[in-house]
Amino acid sequence: MKLVDADLPTARATEAQSPWVWPSSRRFRDASPKEKLDFLAQLRDSPGLVHFDEPRIPGLPQGNGYWALTRHADVVEVSRRPGDFRSGDGALWINDLGQDFSDFFGSIINMDDPRHGRLRRIVTTAFTRHGVRRLHAHIERTAADTIRALAGRREIDIVTDISTPFSLTVICDLLGVPESHHAEVLAASNVLVSGGDPDLVPDQSDPIRAFLHAGTTLAALAADLAEHRRRRPCDDLLTALVRTKVDGTHLTPREIASFFTLLVFAGQETTRNAIALGLWALHNDPQACAAWAADFDRLAPTAVEEIIRHTSPVALMRRTTVRDTTLNGHRLAAGDKVVLYYAAANHDPAVFDEPYQLDLTRSPNPHIGLGGPGPHYCLGAVFARAEITAIFRKIFSQLPGLTITGEPVYLRSTSVNAIKTLAAHV
Ligand code: HEM
Repeated sequence: MKLVDADLPTARATEAQSPWVWPSSRRFRDASPKEKLDFLAQLRDSPGLVHFDEPRIPGLPQGNGYWALTRHADVVEVSRRPGDFRSGDGALWINDLGQDFSDFFGSIINMDDPRHGRLRRIVTTAFTRHGVRRLHAHIERTAADTIRALAGRREIDIVTDISTPFSLTVICDLLGVPESHHAEVLAASNVLVSGGDPDLVPDQSDPIRAFLHAGTTLAALAADLAEHRRRRPCDDLLTALVRTKVDGTHLTPREIASFFTLLVFAGQETTRNAIALGLWALHNDPQACAAWAADFDRLAPTAVEEIIRHTSPVALMRRTTVRDTTLNGHRLAAGDKVVLYYAAANHDPAVFDEPYQLDLTRSPNPHIGLGGPGPHYCLGAVFARAEITAIFRKIFSQLPGLTITGEPVYLRSTSVNAIKTLAAHV
């Protein structure tokens, strides 16, 4: 490695001799979110930066490895310097997937200016035109419907009966996906974030093929719906995306398909895990839960931020160093990959008192669960907050007897903190 640093130690680990559990290892991938935080805390507490090999994924090239950033200050600094740390080589995955693939599957999340700025302006204008106030009303209605659908049930699963149908319906209705396609959208987006988990990708012989198939399913659906909206405009975000022009240009059909794909997984898999992991965190802290139930509206603004910090559903994003540069005293070479471990940064004791404690009154709460400060900050942050608030309000008011009865079963993944099942009775 071309790295030299006179002042701050850096280490290139080999797995066998390493004092750390590698964040790219199977052991890490299969651990619970709390165990992962403990593994990453050891890195955060070590001086300097540590360099790891990339995950070995059949069918993908293994590149030159990456620096794991686990401190809040480092993740913030990289996020606010897009000119030095680019997303265009891929932000969603540590391994390189190739430009076409990365563009298609990540849309704006895997782009840099000026393309990123142009596309983000078009989609932001479309969101605004569609009407943020209307979206709030829609989110409230969907939360009420989700809880109403449980009438007469006693045993439920938090993930399959609450957090998934709620988040899925919000994003599908927003985009104008007919209900008959919701199950297809869910199955495909599950595969995209699955990390190859055998429960979500049953055919383990070729997970990459399953991934590509999921992407093409969503792209074909987006293309069909967009074509329909061009001929017969409706009152949905897809129509706004098809019609909105910024600086004289529209989104191309390919850009629409790719942005649609990003929205259905970025907007759905994240929120659903914040809700399910949030309920699990409240179950483990009955005092905090009772305090919120007793004074929902007063605590909601800080409680929602704390749930996002504490659960950190998006575990990581990647950047690539554009030129030789320094990061808080560490020298990095052009082309180096850096991985931003949001969950670890959100539990950095240098920034958060008692970081493992769920403190629903935490303020200030400079978490970076929705991304660090910079051009890629979560486009759906307003919706994420509104969705979490709306569903918890309904749960507290309509399901006061909700009791978690099982242990969570976690998704096998390094890039998201996600729950597959969590049993409860109501
Ligand atoms: C709790 C829920 C959510 C979490 C934790 C979350 C997290 C994140 C994070 C960490 C990023 C930053 C990516 C980067 O810096 O490279 C991001 C970007 C993004 N998010 Fe979210 N998100 C959530 C909900 C949503 C929702 C509901 C939507 C859509 C309605 C959405 C759409 C997006 C999009 C489109 C981007 C890309 C923005 C860009 O690259 O300019 N997210 N999100």
